[in-house]
Order: sequence, then C-alpha cells, then structure tokens
Amino acid sequence: MQASLRDQMEVIKSIFADRHCSFFLVVMLLASTLSLAIAEIHHHDFVVQATKVKRLCKTHNSITVNGMFPGPTLEVKNGDTLVVKVVNKARYNVTIHWHGVRQIRTGWADGPEFVTQCPIRPGGSYTYRFTIEGQEGTLWWHAHSSWLRATVYGAIIILPREGSSYPFTKPKRETPILLGEWWDANPVDVVREATRTGAAPNISDAYTINGQPGDLYNCSSEDTTIVPIASGETNLLRVINAALNQPLFFTIANHKFTVIGADASYLKPFTTSVIMLGPGQTTDVLISGDQLPGRYYIAARAYQSTQNAPFDNTTATAILEYKSALCPAKCTTKPVMPRLPAYNDTATVTAFTRSLRSPRKVDVPTDIDENLFFTIGLGLNNCPKNFRARRCQGPNGTRFTASINNVSFVFPSNIALLQAYRQKVPGIYTTDFPAKPPVKFDYTGNVSRSLFQPVRGTKLYKLKYGSRVQIVLQDTSIVTPENHPMHLHGYDFYVIAEGFGNFNPKTHKSKFNLVDPPMRNTVAVPTNGWAVIRFVADNPGVWIMHCHLDVHITWGLAMAFLVEDGIGELQSVEPPPADLPIC
Ligand code: C2O
Repeated sequence: MQASLRDQMEVIKSIFADRHCSFFLVVMLLASTLSLAIAEIHHHDFVVQATKVKRLCKTHNSITVNGMFPGPTLEVKNGDTLVVKVVNKARYNVTIHWHGVRQIRTGWADGPEFVTQCPIRPGGSYTYRFTIEGQEGTLWWHAHSSWLRATVYGAIIILPREGSSYPFTKPKRETPILLGEWWDANPVDVVREATRTGAAPNISDAYTINGQPGDLYNCSSEDTTIVPIASGETNLLRVINAALNQPLFFTIANHKFTVIGADASYLKPFTTSVIMLGPGQTTDVLISGDQLPGRYYIAARAYQSTQNAPFDNTTATAILEYKSALCPAKCTTKPVMPRLPAYNDTATVTAFTRSLRSPRKVDVPTDIDENLFFTIGLGLNNCPKNFRARRCQGPNGTRFTASINNVSFVFPSNIALLQAYRQKVPGIYTTDFPAKPPVKFDYTGNVSRSLFQPVRGTKLYKLKYGSRVQIVLQDTSIVTPENHPMHLHGYDFYVIAEGFGNFNPKTHKSKFNLVDPPMRNTVAVPTNGWAVIRFVADNPGVWIMHCHLDVHITWGLAMAFLVEDGIGELQSVEPPPADLPIC
C-alpha cells in the first residue's frame, strides 16, 4: 500500500511537470489518492440454493451459496462495510451469521435464527448490512438455522486498513483453509432424526479441507485440494474449523507453523507443529517453504475428548505442493504423511492453548460488575409417559439434552428475541437466567443421576451497558465430560485462565493472566475443566452464547445476554432494517 501511494504521488508529480495537463485531471487523481484512506462498501449477492455436490462417490442435493461449496470468500479491510443480499431459493428456512463480526449496534444483522431475526423463508430475501470495526485476520460466515451450515459456509478475510500493515512480514501467498464435516446424507435429515429419537445423531462420514475429503477416502483423490508453495517463500494459511461437531487437530508433514492470530485478533507469534481448533475457531499461521521441494500432506482429524462416544475417526488431507523445478519428478511420489496426535491427546491441546498470548499488554477489565459462574454440559431427560420407545433412544430409554446452569435453552418459534425486546412483546422470554448453578456439586466428579435433568426455558441474562463481565465456564462430567467450544455473539473476550477439575475462586485467581491474555470469540473449554473469560458489555442487543458443536445447540447448550442501551444514539441498537424477515 505504501508503495502504491508513492506510485500515485509520482504520477501526480509527473503530471504537474507536464505543462499540457489539465488542472481537472490533477484534482481527480488527488481525490483518488485520498480516497485510499477511506473505507469501502462491498456489495454481494448470496443465493441459497440446492446444488448437486458429489463426494464419497455419491451426489447429494446440497444447500450452497451461489452453487459453491465451500461458499464465496469475502475479502474486506478493517473499517469496511458489507452489504450482503441473501436470497433464499432453497426449500428450507435459512439465516446467515457472520461469525465473530462484532456487529456493533447492528444486532439485526447478526443472524442466529429466532435470536436476532426470524428465518428467511423459501422465496424470501434479507440484506445484511454491517461494518467491520477494529478486527483483523480471519472470520467466517455460516448458516445459523438447523444443520444447514454443514454446507453453507465461507471465509471472511479482514485485511489491515489502507495505510497500515500486518504486524509480520507480508506473506507471499495467502490461502484460506476451511475444515468441514461431510455426511453421506442430508444433514437436515440427520438432525431431524436425532430430534425425533432423542438419540445422538449419526456421526459424519468425512472431514473436508476446502470442501474436499482428500486421498484417504473413496472416489476423492482426483479432487484433493492443492495448496501451492515455492521454496523460500513464507505463506499465510487462514485455518477455519467449520466442522459441525468435531474439534480438529491440524498439521502439515515436515513443516512448522508460526501462529500469528486467532479469531481475527493478533497473537504473539510462536511455533508449533500442530494446532487444534474447536468448531467456530480460526487460527492464522505462517508456513515457510524451507523443506525439500516435493509434496507434503496437510491433514486434519478429530480431537475426541469424550469417553465412550462414537466419532468420525477418518482423516482429511490436502497437499502442500512445491512449485519449484524439482517438483515434477518428486511429484509422482506419494506425499509425505504427517504424524497426528492421538485422538484423545488432551495434553497437546493444553500445550497449544496455553501458548496463546496477545502480542502486548492489553486492557483486561478488572473491577468486575458481573461475576458469573456457568456450568456447561450434557444431560439425559427421562422419557415422558406418553412418549413411544422409538422417541426415547438415548441411553437407557432417555432423551439427550444439554444446559447451562441447568437451563436447557428453548428458542422462540414465532418471533426473534431481539424483536420481542425492542417491540416489548411480552411472554417470549424472561430475564432470570441464573448467575450460578442452582446447586453446588462436584461438577467434574461422579455426578448424582438426580442432577441429569435440566429445566427448559428461554431465559436471558440482563447486562447494563458498559458492565464488566467475568464468566467462569465450568464443564460438567454429566453423561460425559467434553471440550466445549463456547462462542459468544457480539463480542470478543479475553481468555484469562483455564484449567482442569472444578474452578476454585480462591486458589485459581493466581492463574489469571491479566497482562497479555488472548482475545477470542470462541473458547475451547478444557474437557472436565474450566475457562475464565472477561469482556465489557459495550454492544447493546440480544447476544446468544452457545456451544459451537451443533448437536449441543440442538440439545439446548445455549443462553443469551440482553445488553441494554447506554446513553444516546451511539450506545443504542440501531432501528431494525425495513426488510427484516418477520415470522
Ligand atoms: Cu458460528 Cu452462533 O455461531
């Protein structure tokens, strides 16, 4: 950018030197030079439609955006505005969520179905308008309705503003790497079946890298994703875990990663040979073409933290391919396969997450106004008497459920929470979401069966504008402990500590990093452990917080914050757009 500004100045100078040039032209050129510093507005059309997609030898009528799988990449600069018109030509209700975009005052554009908007009905449309403010790096967008995000997702790349640059040497190439999860079935049918039976949904049949499962699956090696690199260059990979239900390890044979960002916030660089991403999380890494020219597998497979639960244990691969002269010979040989951590290698996950630090000292909220303690985990509902056995196919004739502080979240079905709040529609939700669990117990121990059944409710937690919030997210061992990727809409937060077992407010305070904790929008809460997050509630609206394993949202592992307006227009939610879908 510096160079291009200089170029333009050179052009202008040379024009001044040319006596035949018109004054008008100079003004035009000056204006265009100045406009470089001004944010842009990007217009996009997203047509949600059924598209034939062939994977694992079989063609499905998958729901896509613009016929693309994965969907289009949105590339913007920090400060730019996006205007995305979504037209629904599919046979399902749909909404699109811009995962990690703060949506300051524009909650109407956030996207979660029945939280900030009613779904876009088949044949309907809705235009999402929002501005990227103070975020740089990688985010993504995805459907936030049923399990449509299995195929409806894409990358959002946020470059530095004009005139500013990366806090690292500009990479030669940049490649988005979207990790996905594929069912050899219609994902909407998979979740509907699970909801009907109360059992866990069928596991997936493949993972994908940029939509392709890769060489280790049937009928797939022709289309394996190729990631180019040249000897000596340093490239940026923007890795996104878009899988529905599976935290994933990600690695490349013989190559090290320098981790430089996560969830569109920069990090203090560090090197590692493997990273782990929970669904919803992104990680930006630099790789160098410092190995013998040839082909190396890029691989992703499950990090499985639960006990005795079936999971998809297959491995997705792409190929890192050197472009140098030596390659043709080498390229006929099989790519080098990396070593992957064991499926249950929690120690590797812990070592990785503990390495994440902000680049410098950050402003962590200290005097906390809201001290919240949330238990997160699964549950089992005893089957109601009038239910047939085929609807009670969870363990021992139960139905699976999940909750936060013993409340299993129920989404409204005929209005969105944000609408109900702004239009003062009574009877849709209550604001009595508990600040702590109703009973204290050994959360990560052997939990009494009497604590397995949460209550259902649409309970919100009210926050005053500007309040400083701390949340301890405590996993429970109910049914099974599990690493839950907890995602908060509308905010980034600092992850100031994490650990195993039960959080202890007395002894664990000493572990808090109030100097350089990482900033994220999704925290992978350690299995049978806890994480502590902090943020300032400076974005008014209704913001859902949920586990980003879609199966757990289905079961109710969610809650929502109602953040009140502050003083004046700039601290208030904007009025709803005229085309906001109604129910
Ligand atoms: Cu990417 Cu509500 O989530």
